[in-house]
Amino acid sequence: MKAKITVLGGDGIGPEVTREGVRALQRVAQLFGHEFAMDERDFGGIAIDKHGDPLPADTLASCLASDAILLGAIGGPKWSAPDAKLRPETGLLRLRRELGVYANLRPVAVHPALADSTTLKAEVVRGVDLIFVRELTGGIYFGAKTRTATDASDLCSYSAMEIERVTRVAGRLAQARRRKLTSIDKSNVLDTSRLWREVVTRVMKSEFPDVAVEHILVDAAAMHLIRRPSDFDVMVTENMFGDILTDEASMLAGSLGLSPSASIGDGKRGLYEPIHGSAPDIAGKGIANPVGTILSAALLLRHSLGLEAEARAIEAAVASALEQGLRTADIAAGGKSVSTADAGATIIALIARG
Ligand code: IPM
Ligand code: MG
Repeated sequence: MKAKITVLGGDGIGPEVTREGVRALQRVAQLFGHEFAMDERDFGGIAIDKHGDPLPADTLASCLASDAILLGAIGGPKWSAPDAKLRPETGLLRLRRELGVYANLRPVAVHPALADSTTLKAEVVRGVDLIFVRELTGGIYFGAKTRTATDASDLCSYSAMEIERVTRVAGRLAQARRRKLTSIDKSNVLDTSRLWREVVTRVMKSEFPDVAVEHILVDAAAMHLIRRPSDFDVMVTENMFGDILTDEASMLAGSLGLSPSASIGDGKRGLYEPIHGSAPDIAGKGIANPVGTILSAALLLRHSLGLEAEARAIEAAVASALEQGLRTADIAAGGKSVSTADAGATIIALIARG
């Protein structure tokens, strides 16, 4: 097949890890006979520096005209001053909104070879295979803001429609997995959460009666995630709770650097990015873990291009590489580690037609 993919390296380690994701996609194209046209664009802090806008018009136009977008990471101290007028993060929020990608899928599966390298006990994390569905284009991230010298406010609002559509994504995923959905909210305090719980209950009961649903308060969820993570299958929650809990959940797998994400909406087009940030402290050192991005490329193949065998080929290559002992600095636990480029090359060499 032919597909157009917009590539947004972004800032910090973004371009380094994105390079390996692109290589993985090119290898898949070669092996399986596809043609992927890659269009690289400026986005984030680098776009502020070059164009005075974190999401320049031609970058957005390219994204809107493509089948999928592969993104590295954005942001850094250079653009984070408290009084900064332009922020890379604003560009990312606008991009998610413009693309209509309201559901952010963040899978966490513990690779058997890494069960001993996490900060938790191996018996707690072994066998964990869960996926977060984070609402991505609503809530406190997008509400009206006010600020004076002494007061500030960020409005959190949700409509039933916004909750319904993300619940459907979670419901469909649960049906294809272990038929268990955990919805996370703070309904003992927040009205948005009371609406959330009401809508999730209604949609699941009428459209996904075969899925078992439980509701957990977000503070308890944070605790259960590290106490009994293997009990969870699909977890759905609002934007900010999802942001926080998915960083926590990624540590079950051993490192933030391993976690991919897919942001999808009603159409096929999606935005794919590792969940880690731009890591300015290690940028340019060539030691970042490219696995989160390479696995995001696999999600791109699956969700936007419908290429399941190709997605699995990448996931299998990552699994074999980890099995064979491939470790970047973030997961080496002081042992021997390889560079971003070498990790990428090892994984790419393992991609094979099943
Ligand atoms: C993420 C990031 C972003 C978010 C930031 C960079 C705006 O933390 O994708 O999880 O909070 O959504
Ligand atoms: Mg985050």
